Amino acid sequence: MIRQGPILSIERLSKSYPTGFWRKPVRVLSDLSCEVHANEIVGFLGPNGAGKTTTIKILNRLAFPDAGKVTLFGGQVRDGADVRRRIGFMPEQPYFYEYLTGGEFLRLCGQLCGMSRADTESRSSELLSRVGLSGARDTAIRKYSKGMMQRLGLAQALLHDPELVILDEPMSGLDPMGRMEVRGIIRDLKAAGKTVFFSSHILSDVEALCDRVIMLHKGRKVAEGRVEELIGAETLYIELVVSPVLPADRLAAAGIPPDAGYAQGALLVLRAADNEQANRWIAGLLREGGTVLSCVPVKKGLEEIFMERVGGSDSTGATS
Ligand SMILES: Nc1ncnc2c1ncn2[C@@H]1O[C@H](COP(=O)(O)OP(=O)(O)O)[C@@H](O)[C@H]1O
Ligand SMILES: [Mg+2]
Repeated sequence: MIRQGPILSIERLSKSYPTGFWRKPVRVLSDLSCEVHANEIVGFLGPNGAGKTTTIKILNRLAFPDAGKVTLFGGQVRDGADVRRRIGFMPEQPYFYEYLTGGEFLRLCGQLCGMSRADTESRSSELLSRVGLSGARDTAIRKYSKGMMQRLGLAQALLHDPELVILDEPMSGLDPMGRMEVRGIIRDLKAAGKTVFFSSHILSDVEALCDRVIMLHKGRKVAEGRVEELIGAETLYIELVVSPVLPADRLAAAGIPPDAGYAQGALLVLRAADNEQANRWIAGLLREGGTVLSCVPVKKGLEEIFMERVGGSDSTGATS
């Protein structure tokens, strides 16, 4: 389906929460504007406390901004129920009726969003198997681990086959295998023509997955763009891995300054500033009896971009 304009548009959103005994308002979102277009995977990045969950709650009408507005599907929605039908939402801390089984919970969700019983049953089976919970269908949710809850939350968000999927920290609480599976599900959603907007404080997940990222810090947008544009072609340095660890005099004879790298077990790791320097060093190392095991240009990652943009100020949690 070809759609004009963004699927989701956020314009100049601001929000404060009253805090402390005097209920002094503290800004958690300041003048945030951004857009999400059809069939994009957009990562919403920022350290803990940046305002990601607050923004996502506003999108889902679970919180309300002090200023600014959110437009969904170009404003072509009649009411809240219409929005809920077209959006799949997984909250950061999914709350479940613990005495239900996973299967019963999805049946309830299907009823709540007006799906037929037959549709709910077939979609539930498909999704429970997709998120790796087929075996836990008849297990009470109170016996689920955090990772299983997270997977059930994802199945719930996708049950009614929504056009736009909004996920708040979908990878948190998952082991590496689980994170890889969730990445696979997000990629499949894009392949099926859906749009995904998800928050994360894990930069590597976002870098691997997103068409575009929006970076938030202390409630303000600090960067936005296509991942390859933000990262760019810029090489930070060239890493050489050399064997064996040559003694200082032979390194000096090879033209390598003493502070160019470090020994890691039986290997020597060097950082050359550019191709010319790397080539000169390689020639010198070979002359002095070293073997160059690898030579890799290291590019700027989202982490460096984030640190550049926030100027090294308090960015706790950005890389955790
Ligand atoms: N209901 C609330 N009342 C008061 N402060 C809140 C509330 N919800 C969030 N905050 C504060 O708003 C800031 C942003 O929180 P949040 O949106 O959860 O960030 P993130 O999801 O990026 O970690 C935090 O400082 C948090 O303590
Ligand atoms: Mg959050």
